[in-house]
Amino acid sequence: MDKSVLLKVNHLKKTFVKKTRTLLKRKKTDVFAVNNVNFEIRKGEILGIIGESGCGKTTTARMVMRLMKETSGEVWFDGVDLCKLKESETNKIRKKMQMIFQDPYDTLNPGMRVVDILMEPLNAHEKKLEYEEKVKLVKEAIESIKLKPAEDYMYRYPHQLSGGQRQRIAIARAIILKPSFIAADEPTSMLDVSVRAEILNILLELRKKMGLTMMFITHDLSTASYMCDRIAVMYQGRIVEIGPTQKIIHVPSHPYTKALVSVVKDLNYFIKNRERLILDGEVDATREAVGCSFVTRCPHQVSVCHSKSPKVESLGNGHEVACHCHADLLERTS
Ligand SMILES: Nc1ncnc2c1ncn2[C@@H]1O[C@H](COP(=O)(O)OP(=O)(O)OP(=O)(O)O)[C@@H](O)[C@H]1O
Ligand SMILES: [Mg+2]
Repeated sequence: MDKSVLLKVNHLKKTFVKKTRTLLKRKKTDVFAVNNVNFEIRKGEILGIIGESGCGKTTTARMVMRLMKETSGEVWFDGVDLCKLKESETNKIRKKMQMIFQDPYDTLNPGMRVVDILMEPLNAHEKKLEYEEKVKLVKEAIESIKLKPAEDYMYRYPHQLSGGQRQRIAIARAIILKPSFIAADEPTSMLDVSVRAEILNILLELRKKMGLTMMFITHDLSTASYMCDRIAVMYQGRIVEIGPTQKIIHVPSHPYTKALVSVVKDLNYFIKNRERLILDGEVDATREAVGCSFVTRCPHQVSVCHSKSPKVESLGNGHEVACHCHADLLERTS
């Protein structure tokens, strides 16, 4: 594996079995939550994963973080295939990989004080440290997420903090072991708009200071464009387009990416003359597409889209798209 790459995901799949029960019979339906996903993240880079609800973003992150077993595929981290590790070996790697979740209310134990919450990972992974040394690290972590002085916050319970402060504590817990990789799953979507920018800036600052590599999941393209070096666009369990942020925003090539870009007001303020494109319907992960997964909603579909799954094609400079019609669409818009 290329030494500049920290995380590489190959052909990752997760199929859930959904059990439903009607009056007369039980039925099992496959849910193709993640369906052959491939990407890599270089050291120090932030890769954004965007896509609408149910497209498989969280499932991908949970498999990468080893919080969920894959149906098939590989997750290479720092030259090691995590899917082949035993539980005890995975625990050692966990120290280097941390996750920040969407809901800080859910992730912090309401019965523990901030100091105890932050002490937990140190007690698990840094057993040799003296108590005073751990307290020092706790204070440093709290101050690095801009809650100063740390003593004012460390003896509080989560309910004595605001939503934004709680998410900062969740970030402090994620960085206290000095990981090299962070997966942030919609870390600001539950927060008030006024504190979102602060949290994003703290993450960007930590990335710079600690040389962090990040996988940043969001629904919101303008947040992704602010945070990410590259963006992967997911649709129904697959990556349909991936590339440098500027390419995704200024030259979106998949009809789904075009639709996403066209409805973001903040982006279109800068990108003039772009037609708004509203999609009907929603992601249906129980349908394994024979052809292109987007065909039921695509305004540009042709007959081949119904019968053949599109291959991933390179557009140069790390920009890739999986769409039968992307070349025609490019001609039409140029
Ligand atoms: N444990 C589970 N059992 C069955 N189906 C699941 C399970 N977890 C997720 N799914 C299904 O897998 C698909 C992908 O879910 P996932 O949570 O990864 O989507 P997401 O992109 O993170 O969505 P959101 O933006 O709403 O968080 C959905 O159809 C979801 O219903
Ligand atoms: Mg999710």
